[in-house]
Amino acid sequence: PAPGWATEADVVVVGSGVAGLTVALRCAAAGAKVTVVTKARLDDGSTRWAQGGIAAALGEGDTPEQHLDDTLVAGAGLCDERAVRTLVTEGPDAVRRLIATGARFDADDGTGEILLTREGGHHRRRIAHAGGDATGAEISRALVEAVRTAGIDTVENALVLDLLKDGSGRAAGVTLHVMGEGQRDGVGAVRAGAVVLATGGMGQIFSATTNPAVSTGDGVALALRAGAEVSDLEFVQFHPTVLWLGPEAEGQQPLVSEAVRGEGGHLVDADGVRFMQGRHELAELAPRDIVAKGITRRMQERGAEHMYLDARHFGARMWERRFPTILAACRAHGIDPVTEPIPVAPAAHYASGGVRTDLRGRTTVPGLYACGEVACTGVHGANRLASNSLLEGLVFAERIAEDITAAEGPARPAATAEQPYTGAPGAPGEAPLLASEARYEIQHIMTHGAGVLRSAESLARAADRLEGVHDAAAAQLRRDGKTAEPGVETWEATNLHLVARVLVAAALRREETRGCHWREDRPARDDAAWRRHLLVTLRPDGA
Ligand code: SIN
Repeated sequence: PAPGWATEADVVVVGSGVAGLTVALRCAAAGAKVTVVTKARLDDGSTRWAQGGIAAALGEGDTPEQHLDDTLVAGAGLCDERAVRTLVTEGPDAVRRLIATGARFDADDGTGEILLTREGGHHRRRIAHAGGDATGAEISRALVEAVRTAGIDTVENALVLDLLKDGSGRAAGVTLHVMGEGQRDGVGAVRAGAVVLATGGMGQIFSATTNPAVSTGDGVALALRAGAEVSDLEFVQFHPTVLWLGPEAEGQQPLVSEAVRGEGGHLVDADGVRFMQGRHELAELAPRDIVAKGITRRMQERGAEHMYLDARHFGARMWERRFPTILAACRAHGIDPVTEPIPVAPAAHYASGGVRTDLRGRTTVPGLYACGEVACTGVHGANRLASNSLLEGLVFAERIAEDITAAEGPARPAATAEQPYTGAPGAPGEAPLLASEARYEIQHIMTHGAGVLRSAESLARAADRLEGVHDAAAAQLRRDGKTAEPGVETWEATNLHLVARVLVAAALRREETRGCHWREDRPARDDAAWRRHLLVTLRPDGA
């Protein structure tokens, strides 16, 4: 489809979590005309669901160097040390600026000092939190309010389709499918001198995930179609403790924050045995991949569908004060953590990889930036350290804003610039648009073939079945002369498919176990062959 309407800005930011709104605020403060476009409402992304908090060396005796060490260990040999150093040294001031923007963190009533908790992989208390376990909701509230106060142009209910480029191949805006009352309907474009992808993650490629329904990998899919380099997609982080709601549970599942373990909750099996002790010096507070593997192993050994998180000893008062969100979610499902252990199992949580960027958030396509979960800045390596994601979104968003607004100042695209439409999925010559039901088939394929436990066999089967999903749509196109009806759900299914295909290819290729990539047929880490990244770019023919 060709854009039916167009608008202009200096900077278009796609996505409205901590990363997107921070870029928008900082660019606007420097005088740029910014438009934020977002798929649902401004506060509907993953940021709002973050519980545990935001990690930064803010406590007495803590240092960025110690935060760096913990991040590198969790990343299992694949972090970019320069990126991590940037994150941990700029992190504390970035959090202070977030507070100045309006976010209220939990603080000691007497001293006013920010309260810090622990999570997996951290040797110190360094996680700032808000509303007990509602940190993301508070950050989102503060940033949305600041964006509204600043009068920044926002377009909600706008699914990004593809990148516009000028004649030299530079990013020149995005095309969107906008739906909803009182808005410009249909396919349109925002033309801009700089495009910032902050679209979040892709947890919806799996059946059970902590991610909201909007996390469908749209930014990575756009970047792939635009020819940008994508990296480390095989490293999908499974959160160890997600409330277990039965074998058939699908879609977004309630998270039970690592902070519950940070405050002394224990993982136990059905007999009450603490199985993480002896597996790692930090036991339940080992890095996330190790705890997820420990739980999965114990589930296999016991033939169980879940384990338990026991924090009855917190007592009612502490549960109510410190973890009100989790308490309410458990009780809504008939479980009372004050009197019984919580059934938990791992579920897809975070994409450690994404669109490759440098330290200024620049992707390999000029004028196209990425930050937050959609990006691969190099800070997470093979496994993200708990609560580094909000921090990464914040720090690299500020760097992007600085880069965009530096020196020559923000530039709108020249009115005469040639801006060929790169082609949304479904356009002639592109992959056929998939029916919305394909989403569930993709999730099923990925959960069984590329979940916590993988092997060459399971991955090859997943690759074949994904190919089958594409082939069926291509056959329909040949037969009927049309693909599925263009719309949000069909574009989402198509994006999920593209991202899943690349993820499976990378996971098949990485013949080792490292971080959150766990190959049963290659159980050892192989530094000689695999201490390197898999970089992917899509060829124009889609291969
Ligand atoms: C949690 O609260 O356990 C989630 C923290 C994170 O994903 O970093």
